[in-house]
Amino acid sequence: MVKILLIDDEKNLLRVVSLNLIKKGFLVDTAISAEEGLGLFLEKKYDVILCDLKLSGMNGIELLSKVRSLDRQTVFIIITAFGNIEQAVYAMKLGADDFISKPVDIEGLVLNLNIFLNRNKGSKSADIKTTEDEALLKIKGGFIFKSPKIGEILSEIYLTAKSMSNILITGETGTGKELIARIIHNLSGRNGEFVPINCSAVPTELLENEFFGHEKGSYTGAISMQKGKFEAAEGGTLFLDEIGEMPLFTQAKLLRVIQDKEFSRIGSNLKIKLNSRIICATNIELERAVIEKKFREDLFYRINVLHFKIPPLRERREDIIPLANFFVKKYSELNKKNIESISDEAIELLMNYSYPGNIRELENIIERAVIISPYDILEPSCLPKTLNNEESGAKDDRSPNDLISGNIKLEYVEKELIKRVLGENGFNQTKSAAALGISRKQLITKMKKYNLFR
Ligand SMILES: Nc1ncnc2c1ncn2[C@@H]1O[C@H](COP(=O)(O)OP(=O)(O)OP(=O)(O)O)[C@@H](O)[C@H]1O
Ligand SMILES: [Mg+2]
Repeated sequence: MVKILLIDDEKNLLRVVSLNLIKKGFLVDTAISAEEGLGLFLEKKYDVILCDLKLSGMNGIELLSKVRSLDRQTVFIIITAFGNIEQAVYAMKLGADDFISKPVDIEGLVLNLNIFLNRNKGSKSADIKTTEDEALLKIKGGFIFKSPKIGEILSEIYLTAKSMSNILITGETGTGKELIARIIHNLSGRNGEFVPINCSAVPTELLENEFFGHEKGSYTGAISMQKGKFEAAEGGTLFLDEIGEMPLFTQAKLLRVIQDKEFSRIGSNLKIKLNSRIICATNIELERAVIEKKFREDLFYRINVLHFKIPPLRERREDIIPLANFFVKKYSELNKKNIESISDEAIELLMNYSYPGNIRELENIIERAVIISPYDILEPSCLPKTLNNEESGAKDDRSPNDLISGNIKLEYVEKELIKRVLGENGFNQTKSAAALGISRKQLITKMKKYNLFR
């Protein structure tokens, strides 16, 4: 049986959480202080320690360091008040496996415990200390940031994720709206699915069907019953992306569903209860769309109970380098390359660029740079010309010098240049040939010679 040591100075929490865990089949000991917990830990062996962060006397972090200096296997989970992200990151750096917020969600906790306990079975000697980036990643569900602006938004998300309130997420394209919506869903403790619908991608006449599904024979072509996305999101989250593009006709239907909290499949009178959290996202200014009568004011207020505005990347430049490093690691691994860092000159270019496509654009830039880079460090020569030409005036004259100074063969230069141009043009042969000033046929011959096909 799995043995858990639960440490908290709130007697009530000790009682409720231990009772619930015992009901789930765990053996639980409790301690009212870290000192008492440490005593028990030294005396007996536990599979899991659940410890409150703030304790009078020795606190959760101090206990964690003591435990980790003796033992790396015991799963250590920090319990913290909502929004205490900095300390949670610190705890994860010191080797905590996870952190959970109060009030403790027992179902979610048990699910996580099973994952951690299975992991430990697999790798007995794994070093479970994480780097700061990895710790952040784990806590934010993959959302990398350093800027206080994003920190504030995430703290608010931690506070509200478990509520049922509808949420509106706005921000320019590529700022991470969908990623944020997924994080909210993961933190919501809801068991159902995260179901996204792109309202601009589905033709108007099909949107209603997509939302509510239909009964067999409800219209020509409805050969069998089909559930809609509202049903698929039962007990989960319905993510209505690009809500600003939703036709007025569908807006009216959606408003009714949100108000009545129920809906029906097309061709059916049977009412189905709405039991999903609705998160909407858009990159247009809905307030203006309301004034211009393109978006219903009543619907706007219904979906806008909580509003998270994700700032563009150029307004949170502190995030550029952590994000770039994260993408370098990601694409270096994916492409089996050994790129570990970004040169100071390339960092300067990255920091000075305006990123109209935000994080998605930064991600694309780094992916391409990793693919075409001949070095194990990303240099300005791997970055698109747009960055090199940005108003900062920064110029990249390193590439030719680097290549010439190293007594490099002309063939190598040719191959690298073609590789780079292909990468910059998404391997489009016509565009690449034009950029290189050769015919497409000549390009293909050279691609064959250097084996440059994707
Ligand atoms: N903070 C972040 N950390 C890591 N990856 C991020 C972050 N923000 C965005 N991304 C990545 O950037 C890309 C774009 O993010 P996402 O699709 O969430 O943006 P969006 O705001 O929904 O864009 P659009 O308006 O174009 O639909 C995704 O690949 C996402 O994983
Ligand atoms: Mg999106």
